[in-house]
Amino acid sequence: VEDSMGTELTSHKHNVAIKNVGVLTSGGDAPGMNAAIRAVVRTARYFGINVYGIQKGYSGLLKEEMTPLDDSSVDNLSQRGGTILQSDRCLEFMEKDGRNRAYEFIKKTNIDGLIAIGGNGTFTGAHKLWEEFQLPVIGVPGTIDNDIFGTDVTIGFDTAANTAMLAIDKIKDTASSHRRVFVIEVMGRNTGYLAMDVGLGVEADVILLPEKKKNIDDIAAKIDKKAKESGFNSSTIVVMAEGETSGLCNDVGRVLKDKYKLDTRVCILGHIQRGGAPTTRDRKIASIMGAMAVRDLRDGFTDIMVGISGWSPVRTPLLDAISKRKEMHNDLFLLADIMTL
Ligand code: F6P
Repeated sequence: VEDSMGTELTSHKHNVAIKNVGVLTSGGDAPGMNAAIRAVVRTARYFGINVYGIQKGYSGLLKEEMTPLDDSSVDNLSQRGGTILQSDRCLEFMEKDGRNRAYEFIKKTNIDGLIAIGGNGTFTGAHKLWEEFQLPVIGVPGTIDNDIFGTDVTIGFDTAANTAMLAIDKIKDTASSHRRVFVIEVMGRNTGYLAMDVGLGVEADVILLPEKKKNIDDIAAKIDKKAKESGFNSSTIVVMAEGETSGLCNDVGRVLKDKYKLDTRVCILGHIQRGGAPTTRDRKIASIMGAMAVRDLRDGFTDIMVGISGWSPVRTPLLDAISKRKEMHNDLFLLADIMTL
């Protein structure tokens, strides 16, 4: 068996007979996490494995918050946004002492394997549980940012992109009525996956990405030129990734407003992008990955992330998923240049 990069995964095997699996969601929630939980529960039942839901991510291991999950606990779940298990960014679990305490609890519960749904921080925690205590673990990529190496898609990305796209479609109505410039910030942390897809989807005039920094004055000059050429009768949409710090869009807006005297508004879409009913695609990939995680755990895999590449399921060592950067396809940058000002 090979991972997505063609490396043998023989060092990613355990020999525990899996009977009781814990599942948790951690980090920023993402639409589709519930569908993944449902797939975990149903697949486990299929294989005769018990599932326990750990509440509030790794905090639940420290607070000893855990409940058995069966088919009835996961009925009508796929259409719900958020995560029924709730989430957390647990600082205590980042320390060895915290993890020792968490493992003491795990031993008491007879959990013999863990499925961790989330992003980088979540996988770091799972990797440590395998490394330090040899608890078999599998990661499932769930984040709206789509910034995980080893998978083309992460759970929640498609929904978030569509939410942002629909919101910007609405902004475009008022932008064109008032012939305004709108600078709209989308999430994505330090990556531009959301901004790229949303920007292309809404026919943005400018797409600003952390991966390809652009000079704001050059951008502003192009927007100014477009406004003048249309006799100030056009609107302009700038889609900007939040980057390291949310709010930088205000600086861009200020340049357009103060220096170029363009009628400009700034809009930060914010957490609206994290909520709502997941799209079909997110429900589907969540089901595939949730099911695969249980099967892989049962089949002796550990310390890996399940993912999807070119529409095929793939496995990636957790350490690679955590430490390697997923590059955006170069052609996309070219496409964005062609489609914008
Ligand atoms: O990782 C998901 C994400 O929504 C990012 O896009 C964003 O930068 C961050 O989480 C926001 O985190 P919080 O909800 O803690 O403000």
